[in-house]
Amino acid sequence: MCGIVGVLGNHEAAPILVEALKRLEYRGYDSAGIATVNNGTLDRRRAVGKLVNLSDLLVHEPLTGKSGIGHTRWATHGAPTVTNAHPHRAGGVAVVHNGIIENFRELREELAGHGVQFVTETDTETVALLTQHYMAQGADPVAAAKQALSRLTGAFALAFLFDGEDDLMIAARKGSPLAIGYGTGEMFVGSDAIALSPLTDRISYLEEGDTAVITRTSVEITDSAGAVVERPIKTIQIDSTRIDKGGHKHFMAKEIAEQPGVLGQALQHYLGTDSEIHLPGAGLDFAGIERITMVACGTAFYACLTAKYWFEQIARIPVEVDVASEYRYREPPITKGTLAIFVSQSGETADTLAALRYCAGKAEKIASVVNVPESSIARESDVALPIYAGVEVGVASTKAFTCQLTVLFMLVLKAARDRGVLDAGTLDSHVQALRGLPSIINQALEQNAAMRDTAYKLSTARDVLFLGRGQMYPLALEGALKLKEISYIHAEAYASGELKHGPIALVDEEVPVIVMAPRDALFDKTVSNMQEVMARKGKVILISDARGLSEASQGVWSSIEMPEIPDALAPILYALPAQLLAYHTAVAKGTDVDQPRNLAKSVTVE
Ligand code: F6R
Repeated sequence: MCGIVGVLGNHEAAPILVEALKRLEYRGYDSAGIATVNNGTLDRRRAVGKLVNLSDLLVHEPLTGKSGIGHTRWATHGAPTVTNAHPHRAGGVAVVHNGIIENFRELREELAGHGVQFVTETDTETVALLTQHYMAQGADPVAAAKQALSRLTGAFALAFLFDGEDDLMIAARKGSPLAIGYGTGEMFVGSDAIALSPLTDRISYLEEGDTAVITRTSVEITDSAGAVVERPIKTIQIDSTRIDKGGHKHFMAKEIAEQPGVLGQALQHYLGTDSEIHLPGAGLDFAGIERITMVACGTAFYACLTAKYWFEQIARIPVEVDVASEYRYREPPITKGTLAIFVSQSGETADTLAALRYCAGKAEKIASVVNVPESSIARESDVALPIYAGVEVGVASTKAFTCQLTVLFMLVLKAARDRGVLDAGTLDSHVQALRGLPSIINQALEQNAAMRDTAYKLSTARDVLFLGRGQMYPLALEGALKLKEISYIHAEAYASGELKHGPIALVDEEVPVIVMAPRDALFDKTVSNMQEVMARKGKVILISDARGLSEASQGVWSSIEMPEIPDALAPILYALPAQLLAYHTAVAKGTDVDQPRNLAKSVTVE
């Protein structure tokens, strides 16, 4: 999604802005631009495509000035063209924006009534034109920007720069995150702390409805009621050296390989020496919880679906799982005793955040499972459970998924203990299994070459099906999502028992069918469904353990051996082949693995 940076500095702003935008690249974008104020005059450069195009443009048409704003745009209103790229400019105002201005059509009509001309298809241009309109009526830049902000509905983070003002930047937040970075005689703004990490580690986050008037030496923040407020400045630890590929070809490969280490960290934070599960802060008591509602998007939604099997089987609590974009408009009744759990890597996904706000005040408790502890979702929860995956840059979520699953599994154990349905001996065996997880994941990574060979075969397919039964069904869904998002191969997943109710019509000798089936209690059932596929010449790729393969691999097109693992933890392990098959297929096809087309990392619009 769009990324914003801003600087009021003591050095040339353009290279600082471009470097900061590079650190936001992971969010996904299709054009980029910067504007600076040089000797009191606003100027801008914009380019379609990757940041390298903007850098090339700046070589031929440099932009000087020590104050500036920059933007990576993920197109919503209007195609990714230079004209639609940010910063948008109207007279003496330049604006960058993340989010959507929902009432931009009404505002456009109103401005058109005043004879104002529009040159772009974007909602953002309206903000620049409205501010310019108020300035033309005599308002100073601060008053004009505040007046314009008071007219906007929707979700946004905005930064403004003005002609004739090289020591002034205005930043505002309503719905999309925005951080202010404090330097020495310099100030910065950014969509997240990662963008600002080499510039400063002193960060404050604007709250909903805040507007900040920033100079090199001062920040005045007003809240939605117009009262001057203080927002705490925190020292953030982001090691910018960790935001590189560490010798890997892609961030995704690095993040897959990091899983044994980050899972170990997550375990360390929740497991005590006493074999009990320890939640951070005030924690959660499941004794009074009667049901759970879990809400998330994409991969995080599949983590919730997996956790549903665990919560119901191990902790005996009924669980309802919903995609956030549906949940928020369904207006579900929330009864007393409901725990609402929101799962989000970024902690900023607009639909998940809106669903959380819908539940606030209705549910007994709001808990979140997040990777970014400073995120909006974490801050608005009663209990935020960090997953300790570290910064995830690849658009396709990998290590965050396995860390989400691991933390959710520990939450299930805690719930089962609180409800008195898990004895100490069984808890201890689950905990021992968890402690062994990092080394089992390491063994799975040793299958990398086998997965690459299978992926090479997959790379020429047009359609791929994934099958799984029970707790492996969400993994099949995750495998299909991973494959389609980075290799652009059409992939669908089905509960294996559901295949014969329709989708089996798709099976022929052209269609690879990936079956995820550890040798568990449901193995024989899944193998029967696999036989149905092979009887119709489907090309089966069986992913199982040594026992499963020895019993059922005859006649399959390809097989991948996973290490043995206690049944309950199999979904965490089988995420690895899902990720590696997608990764190697994408590499074989030559797609942009870390920034696949049309996708954004942090989805801050609905
Ligand atoms: C897929 C992927 C997405 C995200 C989804 C939710 O690989 O990464 O499906 O899982 O956009 O994002 P978060 O977890 O940040 O709420």
